[in-house]
Amino acid sequence: MKPARSFASDNNAGVHPKVLHALATANHGHTVGYGDDPYTKSAIRKFKQHFGSGIDVFFVFNGTASNCLGLKALTNSYQAVICGDAAHIYTDECGAPEKFTGCKLIPVPTVNGKLTVEAVSQVYHGIGDQHHVQPRVVSITQTTEVATVYRPEEVKALARFAHDHNMFLHMDGARLANAAASLGLTLRQSTRDLGVDVLSFGGTKNGLMGAEAVVFFPRKSEDKQLSRDFLYLRKQGMQLSSKMRFISVQFETLLSDDLWLRSAQHANRMAGLLQRELLDIPQVRISYPVEANGVFARIPRAAIAKIQKRYFFYVWDEKQNMVRWMCSFDTTEEDVKQFGKFVAQAVQN
Ligand SMILES: Cc1ncc(COP(=O)(O)O)c(C=O)c1O
Repeated sequence: MKPARSFASDNNAGVHPKVLHALATANHGHTVGYGDDPYTKSAIRKFKQHFGSGIDVFFVFNGTASNCLGLKALTNSYQAVICGDAAHIYTDECGAPEKFTGCKLIPVPTVNGKLTVEAVSQVYHGIGDQHHVQPRVVSITQTTEVATVYRPEEVKALARFAHDHNMFLHMDGARLANAAASLGLTLRQSTRDLGVDVLSFGGTKNGLMGAEAVVFFPRKSEDKQLSRDFLYLRKQGMQLSSKMRFISVQFETLLSDDLWLRSAQHANRMAGLLQRELLDIPQVRISYPVEANGVFARIPRAAIAKIQKRYFFYVWDEKQNMVRWMCSFDTTEEDVKQFGKFVAQAVQN
């Protein structure tokens, strides 16, 4: 029998039992739809406790929508979004950001999955030229697509560059919780305090079910304009939940009693353990620093199919035989040890 859990993605994990319980608790009687309900008010209060007052929060169903609508709120179609060349918005959203914003995405090379000011400044040109798209947003992913973590000073430097050049900093925080846990920072210290303007805040990968949020951090009064029309963008984007209470109660639970942090810390710890198991296997080469809940490794080509027969996972880069193994809130030490043993056997011809 195949193991109950594998290492393909934190998306493959189920819903955290506390969240499932909260959903059942919210499943009583009728409540007003579309967000005008006590669960939504309470969840928004929780966001304000974590991120501070003056923010605007909107719930959506998935991360792609969160990114697309967040970017849409910041841009006009003649503008451009600068992002990493492996950014989820660039490689994994089927062109949805381009479709919804009308903007060009400008991919730039990254270092260990991270954008640098130097790389961004290389593509910041054509300003005021009517023939050229106008860069308006720098988008970073935290944790990165290769599960590394931007240091606070790296985010700050990108924010400073963006703001000095009349651009915004968007953060795809599908795994922000893992990053904050890794850095030992609060959610606010990992985002707003570093100069992030709009955050796609992930819930699904951290134990929720179809619950993501777009969070606006206005720095000056005119920035309030950005979120003002978001209600309409969300509805046009088909992301307004009629039974909003079931998204809201999940966030309320995630943001209570440090559930977001405990789950992320656990997933990160399991990835650390997995790395330690793999370091003992000479045929396995770890590709990136293991800083959150994912391990990327190059392994002998023949071993990939052998391991996949028992454990489902994705090949990240076929040319390099690089695989991606992710841990979740529900990964156990036993899962990791068994997997490590299986990999060790599979790589011996
Ligand atoms: C970095 C990143 N951003 C966003 C998403 C959101 O994707 P989805 O639309 O599948 O929820 C994902 C999902 O894998 C992701 O890895």
